[in-house]
Amino acid sequence: MKRVITYGTFDLLHYGHINLLRRCKALGDYLIVALSTDEFNSKSKNKSCYFTYEQRKLFLEAVRYVDLVIPETCWEQKKTDVHEYHVDTFVMGDDWTGKFDFLKEEGVEVVYLPRTPEISSTKIRKDKTPKNFRGD
Ligand code: CTP
Repeated sequence: MKRVITYGTFDLLHYGHINLLRRCKALGDYLIVALSTDEFNSKSKNKSCYFTYEQRKLFLEAVRYVDLVIPETCWEQKKTDVHEYHVDTFVMGDDWTGKFDFLKEEGVEVVYLPRTPEISSTKIRKDKTPKNFRGD
């Protein structure tokens, strides 16, 4: 059983997130998503979410590619998570390229996947009306 882990905020779940999760799952058999808590988002990532941690978790648990959602509470936990959850492959979007290469020293494969263009939670938050949201 090949186990894959990825980290993120996943607010206002969108097709860019789903594309990422689908490709993560395709790299193995069991996908763990470490979901940033509200406190970690505001304190360390300077992000304020539309949905709460519990609401974002609910969405992720409904996605067929996701097997387990765990909380992400600090930057340092990755090093211990990969051992605790017996992770084979660590995946992030390519906005993080190179940032987590140190995990290779823990015996984990590190993969950066291309982001889906032109969509982000920030963009959805900015585009207020459904008309703008569709881009027309
Ligand atoms: N992601 C992606 N394609 C996108 C948006 C996000 O592949 N268009 C990936 C990110 O690279 C990351 C994961 O989805 O690995 C979670 O990203 P997150 O930061 O929660 O999503 P964003 O939409 O980028 O959120 P924000 O605008 O708040 O930064």
